[in-house]
Amino acid sequence: MDQVFTAFLFLLKMGNEIKSILVTGGCGFIGSNFIHLCLRERDYEIINLDALTYAGNLENLKDYESDSRYKFVKGQIEDPELIKDLMQEVDAVVHFAAESHVDRSIEDQKPFVITNVLGTQVLLSGALNSPRLKRFVHVSTDEVYGSLRPDDRPFKEDDHLHPNSPYSASKASSDLFCRASFKTYGLPVVITRCSNNYGPYQFPEKLIPLMCINAMADKPLPIYGDGSNVRDWIYVEDHCKGVLAALEQGVPGEIYNFGGECELSNLEVVKTILKILKKPEDLITFVADRPGHDFRYAMDITKAQKELGWKPEWTFSRGIEMTIKWYQENRGWWEKILSGDYRDYYHRRYGSL
Ligand code: NAD
Ligand code: DAU
Repeated sequence: MDQVFTAFLFLLKMGNEIKSILVTGGCGFIGSNFIHLCLRERDYEIINLDALTYAGNLENLKDYESDSRYKFVKGQIEDPELIKDLMQEVDAVVHFAAESHVDRSIEDQKPFVITNVLGTQVLLSGALNSPRLKRFVHVSTDEVYGSLRPDDRPFKEDDHLHPNSPYSASKASSDLFCRASFKTYGLPVVITRCSNNYGPYQFPEKLIPLMCINAMADKPLPIYGDGSNVRDWIYVEDHCKGVLAALEQGVPGEIYNFGGECELSNLEVVKTILKILKKPEDLITFVADRPGHDFRYAMDITKAQKELGWKPEWTFSRGIEMTIKWYQENRGWWEKILSGDYRDYYHRRYGSL
């Protein structure tokens, strides 16, 4: 509580007006949706720092290229000199940049340590040296809590961390560096943890876009194990609104869970997609399970509802219709990805299908 009070005094002293934000990973799925939301509904100046890895795509923000409030910087979050300079220009950080795909983390852990752990630590250290920084929002995941059994209650913010994949281990580590920066130095860090997002601009390695695209092309839909694993699905715009609420109203040192209150098994999700696209269920192909596959995630979002006045607004049926429509209407976006480097990844993973 005394740290919260220190942070409160810090804010009082600095004033809480945020005009400019450093968004990391803004060319990825959630980061680009977040920048769209901010430029549509707010008047912040935004610097988007992104390394343009396989998951980063400048096309996600092409509508705002000439907006005077928006600037793109290509670079790595783990570059201390670049971070030091950028921190002088902003009042807040919203940190999305990460290696985000669990399957890739199982194949090669190192990029996850470099970006998610080292990159976050470099950003936090840079933030400490910035006299004008008023908020550091760290965007994390429900996966840090581990896996639930069917009858367990949903995760709460003060639950212990039990990460099971190299990806979630790296995210949990970054959460702990954020906590340490608040406790030790009073850096005004807010951590958000969200469940599975879906919506426009999601890279086609993730379940929902992969299944939409394969189904449209009458290709097999690879389901790991027996398809009974459960995820809590949230439409990406709802998550972005939560992150914005955390930036504007979140209390330093606090953690906020976001989720869609929409638990579905993978098989239910895939059958819904097939039904909307009017494709046969025999496209479903059961493949080898993911090693260490978490069985179920579910979030208790009471705190965000009470303290941020946030709640998810999209139903799954509306969100999945919109998402499928987006992938149907934006073939050029994903066909370019499928014909690039991702093709090698896809063939390595699913080549026999
Ligand atoms: P994504 O993979 O689509 O995008 C990641 C972005 O980060 C890309 O634009 C990439 O180029 C950039 N990036 C990667 N390494 C970088 C580096 N070293 N320096 C600078 N930029 C770098 O990821 P996403 O799905 O949009 O997830 C964004 C954040 O939200 C992540 O931190 C993730 O852990 C978290 N999150 C994701 C979900 C989800 O369902 N996708 C749910 C909860 C939390
Ligand atoms: O829960 C939040 C997390 O959601 C985020 O932190 C991660 O960044 C994001 O990638 C996502 O992780 P998941 O591993 O849950 O998402 P993915 O889309 O990879 O898989 C969702 C479920 O679908 C999971 O149970 C594995 C399964 N799956 C996935 C793929 C890619 C399949 O059955 N077949 C597939 O081909």
